[in-house]
Amino acid sequence: MPELDPSTLSNYPQFKVNHTALHLNVLFDELRVHGTVTYDLVGTGSKSLDLDTSFLKITAAKVNGSPAPFSLGTREILGSRLSIAIPSDNTNGDASKLTVSIDFSTTDQCTALQFLNKDATSGKSAPFLFCQCQAIHARSLFPCFDTPAVKSPYTFSANSPHFTLMAGIHQRSSNNTHYFEQSVPIPSYLVSIASGDIAGLPIGPRLTVYSEPVILKDCQWEFEKDMENFIEIAEKLVFPYEWKRFDSLVMPKGFPYGGMEIPNLCLLTPTLICKDRLQVSVMAHELAHSWLGNLVTNCSWEHFWLNEGWTVYIERRIAAGIAYAEAKESGHADPAAYGEQVRHFDAIIGWNALDLSIQSMGASASRFSTLVQDLKDGTDPDDSFSLVPYEKGFNLLFHIEQKVGLDHFDKFIPHYFKKFRYQSLDTYEFKDTLYEYFSEKRAVLDTIDWDAWFYQPGMPPVDPKFNTELADACYVLTESWRQACLSRKYNFSPKDISQFNANQNVLFLESLLTLDKRDDFEWSNHADALVEMDRVYAYNNPQNAEVVFRWYMLRVTGHVPGSIDTLGEWLGTVGRMKFVRPGYALLNVVDRERALGYFAKFKQTYHPICIAMVCKDLGIE
Ligand code: BES
Ligand code: ZN
Repeated sequence: MPELDPSTLSNYPQFKVNHTALHLNVLFDELRVHGTVTYDLVGTGSKSLDLDTSFLKITAAKVNGSPAPFSLGTREILGSRLSIAIPSDNTNGDASKLTVSIDFSTTDQCTALQFLNKDATSGKSAPFLFCQCQAIHARSLFPCFDTPAVKSPYTFSANSPHFTLMAGIHQRSSNNTHYFEQSVPIPSYLVSIASGDIAGLPIGPRLTVYSEPVILKDCQWEFEKDMENFIEIAEKLVFPYEWKRFDSLVMPKGFPYGGMEIPNLCLLTPTLICKDRLQVSVMAHELAHSWLGNLVTNCSWEHFWLNEGWTVYIERRIAAGIAYAEAKESGHADPAAYGEQVRHFDAIIGWNALDLSIQSMGASASRFSTLVQDLKDGTDPDDSFSLVPYEKGFNLLFHIEQKVGLDHFDKFIPHYFKKFRYQSLDTYEFKDTLYEYFSEKRAVLDTIDWDAWFYQPGMPPVDPKFNTELADACYVLTESWRQACLSRKYNFSPKDISQFNANQNVLFLESLLTLDKRDDFEWSNHADALVEMDRVYAYNNPQNAEVVFRWYMLRVTGHVPGSIDTLGEWLGTVGRMKFVRPGYALLNVVDRERALGYFAKFKQTYHPICIAMVCKDLGIE
């Protein structure tokens, strides 16, 4: 048994879920959904079934077809506990088997759903509804065991006048009711619905990309070259893809994440559509979750790194596989070495981003920068979210890989994923499995300082030796600019970056930003250099959000005239928290009044989760 999940109010250890049927009616005019959820359970004799809810209205409950008394507890940080009485004279024959159905409605305080009126969509043809349940927002959509420790196969249905997608394979639609089947057991955080003016085009033999029709062709172009190749590389690393289809939906701009790994319906931020195919790694990341996260799942958000660290690890192996294939095709002398260079380059970007992210935590770093988190005081997992589980998790796996050797680690990967598929586990079960598998290498594993990796705050305990061949050009250029700033003599040309791809530009801009953290350098003394950089490199091209975002951040850090408005206005064009949160946080440091002004102006375009997080960051209600 893995550790218990402290982020749920449900009594999930008392039940096993055999099947869940979820039906939703979408009421666009009332900005809510109402529905019915039916659980087929096996109980252990508990007198009550306790489920998670958050700002839900419960209208009826039935146990084995008969109305059952229920009560809703008072609200706490984790929501309100719904308790349904289970009669002692269970009439189902087998006393441990139960069918429980609950009628419910969402309210205007629902944190999972975002309704857009048609004017807020790109096509302005129909309203749009979408949903984001991870980490603990499923409880604001339907009463559930809102813990990744519980998995169930689902049938989903939804009534909506518009095209609708849910977290399973579409079966049929009739009379505005759309039916979906998810036969692989999934946790509540992967439940989803999207409805609006949506259309689809193929991007591979088992892939369709969906979006609003106006951007559909661009979405197809962005992904069609790579996605099937990504799946094939991942299948060789782990084992064959089990979910049959990998369909995706490019979301309206208010979507708060880069991507979300909904099974059969990967959700993606529209900032990926940058017309250079250079953000497709985000889709590789979500694809990798098909194995890690969706098949093999963290048992609670304290062990979130098992989802994200592993996913980043596989995402980078996929990138290396693609680079290898391309190098081979173009006659590169050593394609395998090139593949590794690309993987190490991505890892360096991640390492630097981790460094910046831990620094920006300030005092809370001592609590939130550990790999294994402690959420036992009821802290909302959204508050502990950072790059730490991603990048520290990746680095631990990379460290283990280096210790046992790549070939041996490659054999461990399918073993681990087969052992835990359809299950949820904790960090200690992962470590035990590693020791079990590498029983002959115990001495090697014992040289890893596990306690430091799991519980020590701050950067990873081991400084990895990444290959810097592709990164060096970025570092050399950063150093030239630092020197030029000190002497105030600028002699640069567009050629400096003409061979850079978007990721190299990202690393270059990130290392310029990191300069500001050094004692001897402050960009606010060098606004003139940034004006010059703007002139020679013309970074103001808003197509690649990753580049533009860092460029705007750098200009604000350097107090370049007009930079606050450029960043402020740009924050109104994106909804991804990766950009929105640090964007407002930086504006807040330089000019709080204008930060608040821009946030008030664009607040309504953001998802409720994003609004809540920015409010916390800015210290406002
Ligand atoms: N599952 C996450 C998004 C998430 C995490 C939502 C925690 C809610 C709570 C998704 O797979 C993810 O990691 N997205 C990243 C993509 C990036 C690492 C390539 C993102 O949104 O930036
Ligand atoms: Zn992820």
